[in-house]
Amino acid sequence: MDDLMTEGARPAGARPAPAHGQIDVLDRYPAHAGAARLYGDSISGDVDALYRRLRAEHGPVAPVLLEGDIPAWLVLGYREAYYVASRADLYIRDSAVWNAWDLVPADWPLRPALGNGGDSVTWVTGAEHARHSDAIHEVLAAVDPFELRARCERIADELIDTFADRGRAELMYSFAHVMPARAIAGVLGIPAEDTAGMVQDLVALFDHSTDALAAHGRLMALVTRLITQRRDNPGVDAISRMVTHPAAFTDVEALQDIFAILASGQQPVAYWIGNTLRLLLADPRFATTLAGGRRSVGQAMTEVLWEDPPVANFTGRWAVRAGQLGGQRIQAGDMLVVGVAAANADPEVRPDPAAGPGGNQAYLTFGTGEHRCPFPAQELAEVVAQTAVEVLLDRLPDLTLAVPADDLLWNPAIWVRGLTTLPVTFTSA
Ligand code: HEM
Repeated sequence: MDDLMTEGARPAGARPAPAHGQIDVLDRYPAHAGAARLYGDSISGDVDALYRRLRAEHGPVAPVLLEGDIPAWLVLGYREAYYVASRADLYIRDSAVWNAWDLVPADWPLRPALGNGGDSVTWVTGAEHARHSDAIHEVLAAVDPFELRARCERIADELIDTFADRGRAELMYSFAHVMPARAIAGVLGIPAEDTAGMVQDLVALFDHSTDALAAHGRLMALVTRLITQRRDNPGVDAISRMVTHPAAFTDVEALQDIFAILASGQQPVAYWIGNTLRLLLADPRFATTLAGGRRSVGQAMTEVLWEDPPVANFTGRWAVRAGQLGGQRIQAGDMLVVGVAAANADPEVRPDPAAGPGGNQAYLTFGTGEHRCPFPAQELAEVVAQTAVEVLLDRLPDLTLAVPADDLLWNPAIWVRGLTTLPVTFTSA
């Protein structure tokens, strides 16, 4: 491992002073001359081919440009990605140290993904992180998986009832996005009368629709109201457990953590469901065994975590000091993007991708290190996704893609791997 070597280095603590006049970005980021763009046209095609090209040209760490041509490093090597995500002392979570703030426009679309001073579990570190993270672990671990499974079976049945007599459906919006949103609503104890609106808002939040901002506001208002109610009148739901937890969260802290659970719990699970269905329906290895039962569902779900990880890249890591990583010269305050999809496909750990992962669960799909996806959240995600897929296949056993698999479109955002739509046909029930 090319370790991050200490160098005389300028302090990484403060944002650089605003630039005056023309900024010569390449003087500051010489390795980024001609760097690949991780947005727009360059990622609209075969993104795996882009990762392979970057790996061949630059090795395990490649200079890239984010939206607006903002320089960052994409960590493509499995070992390097693991190292960056697990060494919170060297690659810190605090975006205040970022050396490119002066290049970033006020309306930069990735700003919300950088924390912006929030102090939810996602952004705090050290002992404060443990305080938030331990509470979230306990709160989510208290969810009974059998009860959750039974609730998810009911939700799946209700959703399937809405289209089962039509013989065709678009599964992402009528099923895959709604399943985890309703499951999380149940875990949080969202009252029945608020659930439909909450589910709609949660789906809209990631849809880049014009309603996303308003949806965000309504969700925050709903959770704020429920926090107040549950403080006075606690129940057995996750919001009650958060506000009565010995960590003694303030209302603002509880709101931010509950919001992190909501946001993290919907979109990746929806894409896990969608990507698994695509694999099961499109890949002849599974198509032939589908009728044979449920064993293939678990295999397909694991394969998706390796090949089509719902969170394909994540950021929120900044180099604390100058040094080397994967043969590249990293400056203090540089931003790193952990390339989950690329790292999972690293030939160093997957010399023969055609061999399939088998039972190997060493994928980086849930992250690693102190900010990895909490284990009870992973279990919750698995129960929701697996129940969704199994009930759907039980109810509509002759489910078939309505378009050739190659015509299915992926969400163009580099951060996720998920289908925009999943049209299917089946025999009407
Ligand atoms: C397929 C499903 C899921 C995937 C692929 C996924 C992936 C991830 C990843 C990669 C991270 C780490 C990001 C980083 O290190 O910067 C993360 C963190 C997190 N996830 Fe998940 N997640 C999933 C489902 C869920 C669910 C269902 C919940 C909650 C019910 C959840 C709650 C969280 C929380 C609270 C964090 C922040 C942990 C921290 O910062 O300490 N996730 N997730």
